[in-house]
Amino acid sequence: MKDILLIANWKMNPGTAKEAQELFETVANAVEGVAGVKVVLCPPFVYIPEIVRAAPSVALGVGGQDCFWEGKGAFTGEVSPSMLKELGCEYVILGHSERAKYLGETEDMVQKKVAAALSADLKVVLCVGENEQTPADRENLIVVYEPEWAISTEGGRAADVSRVAEKVAAMRKTFKAGPILYGGSVDSSNIASFLKEAGVQGALVGGASLNAAEFISLVKNAAM
Ligand code: 13P
Repeated sequence: MKDILLIANWKMNPGTAKEAQELFETVANAVEGVAGVKVVLCPPFVYIPEIVRAAPSVALGVGGQDCFWEGKGAFTGEVSPSMLKELGCEYVILGHSERAKYLGETEDMVQKKVAAALSADLKVVLCVGENEQTPADRENLIVVYEPEWAISTEGGRAADVSRVAEKVAAMRKTFKAGPILYGGSVDSSNIASFLKEAGVQGALVGGASLNAAEFISLVKNAAM
């Protein structure tokens, strides 16, 4: 059986490199021996080099939270898929609803980013909300059902397991082989039921991944 994928989206947190390093070290030490689970940390770009330097010694993946669709050029503020790859990232999150909400990212932009990231040999963690279409299978594509209303910082609460199960079954009709994850207020208390009852192969975790003790419990509960 494939490992359960637990992807930590740190978003624009923590506020300092020192805190990022501490969070990384505490999580890495605690989850190193946990079998059956692959943990992927997606910190802000600026923290990635330090974390990648330390990560090869432990069974952790590292990913970016976004990338641009061109390899290089006059695109102020952007980071290319090949830059992430060169840094040592294995994954990239794309299509997060916060990017649409705060930055006006469109479906068309997301599609271009997905194509570019896959060409750069990154594994793409593609967020799909309530209304977007589920893509068909592509190698190295991981799809996340993450309804905007379920995100903890939006004052949301986790979707009902039965709703996630229904949605995942519908997504499976077009996305037949790769992992389907759930995201939205996942924590140590509900991870097991999403894994056991909703048919997902892992989770994309926001808020709960910023508290080391909570995230470590989440990882351990997922592995049980
Ligand atoms: P929360 O886990 O804080 O709800 O965030 C979910 C999310 O947006 C992960 O990408």
